[in-house]
Amino acid sequence: KIVPVILAGGSGTRLWPISRDSMPKQFLALGSDRTFYQDTLLRVPPKSAGGTDPIIITADAFRFFARRQAAEIGVDVTIILEPARRDSAAALIVAARYAQKIHGDDCLVLALAADHLVPDVALFQQACLDAAAAAEEGHIVTFGITPTEPRTSYGYIKPGKPLGTPGAFAVTSFVEKPDRETAERYVADGYLWNSGNFIFPAALMLSEAAKFEPEIAAGAEKTIAGAIEDIGFIRLDEKSFVAMPAKSIDYAVLERTDRAAVIEGRFSWSDIGSWDAVRDSREAGEHGNVTSGPVALIDSHNAFIHSEGPLITGIGLDNMTVVASEDAILIMPSDRAQDVKHLVASLKAEK
Ligand code: GDD
Ligand code: MG
Repeated sequence: KIVPVILAGGSGTRLWPISRDSMPKQFLALGSDRTFYQDTLLRVPPKSAGGTDPIIITADAFRFFARRQAAEIGVDVTIILEPARRDSAAALIVAARYAQKIHGDDCLVLALAADHLVPDVALFQQACLDAAAAAEEGHIVTFGITPTEPRTSYGYIKPGKPLGTPGAFAVTSFVEKPDRETAERYVADGYLWNSGNFIFPAALMLSEAAKFEPEIAAGAEKTIAGAIEDIGFIRLDEKSFVAMPAKSIDYAVLERTDRAAVIEGRFSWSDIGSWDAVRDSREAGEHGNVTSGPVALIDSHNAFIHSEGPLITGIGLDNMTVVASEDAILIMPSDRAQDVKHLVASLKAEK
């Protein structure tokens, strides 16, 4: 069995002002009629290929988005609620343990980020089934993406010797978010980006977690044992959950394990982590401008303008980004897209 686990508790700060703490990007539709979370639910392997109903793990504050948006597209989900934010290692290890309890010792977990853009669902599902075969051989399988530039916001994977499953390779090294120079070297040396989606035997992830993060492994056991059901949501025990260290699964397990494998993700993929990635995912119009919402431009080139509120007008804009929600406007040169998180942090500090 392949149990999809969807990590939907992130905050998506680099897409401010559209993505907010109270409404992060996974629950938004950016230029589509479905949200990223809904697209993720529709991307899991079909039941005919061994897929089960998805397990969602998210923050308490998002519980009704998670339930209502799944109901809107007719997908049955189990929703586990985290009492606090402890990053992806705690979330994923808890969900893997829960999956194992419900679906049995030998189930595979397909861990999916809730906020990625993967237009070709059939290709993605095929990649999941190929990766499942490599996971059955005893691996934590990552999907490697061919880099287009030395981005520092990704994990980097060096593929090693081929495994029994065609297209799958052992991972020689996994490095999360390297600095710029290192990332440049990795791109030149044929490393792949980590897509942030994984498939693994639940039991293998739990034994690796027990080895590298015993506090998280033990905390997962306790927080599930103390969980209660509340109008259909699974509420984890607070005391044991908040005691777990906050780490991403990439640092906690992927960088350290010798059981990682990679298969090349041949599907097109974007993590729409920032406004430049949103722009790149859209078709450019006249003069390279990408616009959505009420926008009027004169003499402008390579501008990215997205408005969910006021009419935005511009004259002579070159490589500029403007994003407007109903109550806030972001203006920046397009190459500063990674700095939006600093802006959001400074707004919080002023409060
Ligand atoms: N439930 C839950 N709780 N989910 C979380 C939490 C949490 O505390 N923190 C993050 N997530 C979810 C996010 O919503 C997202 O779906 C996923 O976990 C990954 O978290 P990000 O915060 O978006 O990670 P990242 O983008 O910095 O890095 C990861 O993804 C990159 C590709 O997009 C890493 O796996 C990188 O190696 C990878 O390259
Ligand atoms: Mg991300």
